[in-house]
Amino acid sequence: MKLTAVFALLAFVGSALADSTSIVSALSTVNNSTVQLGSSVTEWKGDLLGTLPIIADSTALLVDVKKGTKTAEESEPLDAAGAIEVATATNTLVASVNATLTALIDSKEKFDRLLLSPLIFGNLELQQKATSEMSDAIIKKVPVELQDLARNLVAPIDSGFEMAIDAFRPDL
Ligand SMILES: *[C@@H]1O[C@H](CO)[C@@H](O)[C@H](O)[C@H]1NC(C)=O
Ligand SMILES: *[C@@H]1O[C@H](CO)[C@@H](O)[C@H](O)[C@H]1NC(C)=O
Ligand SMILES: *[C@@H]1O[C@H](CO)[C@@H](O)[C@H](O)[C@H]1NC(C)=O
Repeated sequence: MKLTAVFALLAFVGSALADSTSIVSALSTVNNSTVQLGSSVTEWKGDLLGTLPIIADSTALLVDVKKGTKTAEESEPLDAAGAIEVATATNTLVASVNATLTALIDSKEKFDRLLLSPLIFGNLELQQKATSEMSDAIIKKVPVELQDLARNLVAPIDSGFEMAIDAFRPDL
């Protein structure tokens, strides 16, 4: 009887760890695609051909974010230790998203010259929605008493998107 309880506990701890690992790995993938998109934007000279890697990276990022949402949705609830690992990965992502959005905002004039700013605007809106869905899915798995903290942690991502979306919003 006692042994069964120990096994049940081990199985629980094991699965909680496995789930924080899968969410952390999904966040690491999203971080990498975010950084990749940021370097494509930073390296871009403003030519039409150079927008191809930017479009490709931004599509890949959207796919990775959606995969991250699915991973989080399928995850078991996180324990406090798992939540801390996820928080650390989130912090990295917050920094990468900030850098990439800043690079996009700084390149606005180049996109304007090619009349591509409305496309970037639409893309940013899609990305903001997908990212906020991923955050929500992850926060649902965080222990209730840590959820407010988690919301504060991801808040800069959303406000960064707001800034970028405002910068690219077409004049009416
Ligand atoms: C993210 O990039 C780092 C450094 O390039 C690499 O070590 C890591 O395996 C990548 N993570 C994923 C999930 O692809
Ligand atoms: C975020 O991605 C960049 C680029 O792949 C990588 O150098 C960096 O180590 C990543 N950060 C973490 C914590 O995975
Ligand atoms: C990036 O972070 C800095 C420092 O926190 C902040 O002032 C800036 O508004 C952020 N930019 C974006 C696009 O998130």
